[in-house]
Amino acid sequence: MPVTTKKGTIKKLEDYLQSFFNEEKISLLSNYPGLTLHRLRNDIKLHAFLSGVDSEELFEFPYIPHRSNPITLFFEKLKEGVPLEYITGYAYFYRSLFKVTPDVLIPRSETEILVELASLEIQKNYRNKTCRLIDVGTGSGIIALTLMMEDFATLDVVATDISDKALTLAKENFFNLRYTVSAKHNISFLKRDRLEEVEGNFDIILSNPPYIKCLGDLASVHHQVLSYEPAMALFLDDDLYDLWFEDFFRSIHEKLTPEGISLIEGHESHLEDLADMAIKLGFAKVDIIKDYTGRNRFLRFKKQ
Ligand SMILES: C[S@@+](CC[C@H](N)C(=O)[O-])C[C@H]1O[C@@H](n2cnc3c(N)ncnc32)[C@H](O)[C@@H]1O
Repeated sequence: MPVTTKKGTIKKLEDYLQSFFNEEKISLLSNYPGLTLHRLRNDIKLHAFLSGVDSEELFEFPYIPHRSNPITLFFEKLKEGVPLEYITGYAYFYRSLFKVTPDVLIPRSETEILVELASLEIQKNYRNKTCRLIDVGTGSGIIALTLMMEDFATLDVVATDISDKALTLAKENFFNLRYTVSAKHNISFLKRDRLEEVEGNFDIILSNPPYIKCLGDLASVHHQVLSYEPAMALFLDDDLYDLWFEDFFRSIHEKLTPEGISLIEGHESHLEDLADMAIKLGFAKVDIIKDYTGRNRFLRFKKQ
């Protein structure tokens, strides 16, 4: 039952949320394609929990919009179009919750396929032996840390990024998730440009690098991604694109163990060209793997 006061009618949070969702639906769906009331309810719950409000009855509480109320801040940022993950400060990836900030890319569900493929490779070939693995451009650390939650092999992991802020956050995620990461694994975080000055060879080289051409691919980038996510995580200069990947693939070839594999996420429009490039650089086997929408999304390289 709504409560009537001198200042008007106070709604329950649930009723406020439903009216908000219906009134703002057009702009919400333009900023958050596919957004549902259910998702919004869950994110408000998470946001409230992280702000110190942990109650099953949250949506039954009377909701009084006020600047000091964390839920009011949530609604304000939602109206501005700030990505939900940056509002709550957390994103789900695979089976865990990772801290995210505007300094790192918001984890994408397709990257879970890359983790799945790497996990299958570890299960198949590294049971009971150490696997040396590198995650190039680790961002929030999702790829490296998710694999470290598995127990099939002992992993010796290196996670690199050129962004200091990303590395700080990846370390924080490692700290937050330390009890879910098997203690037998080992990880070091390094500030490096791709594989430059990274010592030793690797059985598995993984990367979800920046792969959008600044100009050529711009039309396909959602305005919310452009406004809020870090350019460094997303874009490469059109003129330097091929050279960037050529240098990267050359160093992958150099640093991969003879039986090793590399899995690289990429742009659907450029993966075929990049696969040809990899063959020319000497990889014996290069496969293009699709994501769940049927788009070309990953390259898998083998040296032999
Ligand atoms: C697409 S994001 C991927 C982040 C994370 N691995 C994920 O899948 O969500 C690319 C990451 O690569 C980093 N990066 C960009 N250029 C790099 C370079 N030359 N060497 C290493 N990392 C780079 C960015 O800072 C960013 O964190």
